[in-house]
Amino acid sequence: MSGQAAFLHRLRMGVLTSGSDATRQLGQELADCLPDDTVLALHGNLGTGKTTFISGLATGLGITRPVTSPTYNIYNLYRGRRQLVHLDAYRLEQADEAEGLMLEDLLESPWLLAVEWPERFSPEWLRRAWRLHFSFEGENERLIRLESDSR
Ligand SMILES: Nc1ncnc2c1ncn2[C@@H]1O[C@H](COP(=O)(O)OP(=O)(O)O)[C@@H](O)[C@H]1O
Ligand SMILES: [Mg+2]
Repeated sequence: MSGQAAFLHRLRMGVLTSGSDATRQLGQELADCLPDDTVLALHGNLGTGKTTFISGLATGLGITRPVTSPTYNIYNLYRGRRQLVHLDAYRLEQADEAEGLMLEDLLESPWLLAVEWPERFSPEWLRRAWRLHFSFEGENERLIRLESDSR
């Protein structure tokens, strides 16, 4: 098994991280495993480490600008070896509002679209997404699992 395949296998089993650096490291490692033009859906409650994971992903894409949660806007755009669009749909009220963003016009291949609160979108829109699930296991522990059919 290649290093990447072994890593993905481990992530499909679920990885318990102790501390935000470990979560960032996991995100950084995943960056190399994702094909170009991938949607990554990050499921999980507030504080479970989704934004932390995306900051590691950004490092893995050669992005040096610090990743912060989109606040005034719904998404932030970063340029690295690929374009990273970090979309946080938390404050969107309904799916049609999300789909009105015209993201297709924004994305420049090769891109990676990382979506927090993907439940705000219709399932159709995200049918090709790689899905990650984040859960709280303790003050500094988070369980991070990749859905098995993501490829
Ligand atoms: N193992 C861990 N992984 C990620 N974050 C952790 C971990 N342990 C503690 N934390 C803390 O939990 C918070 C996670 O915040 P954030 O990444 O913004 O979550 P979300 O985007 O899911 O709301 C941060 O304050 C971070 O320092
Ligand atoms: Mg967040």
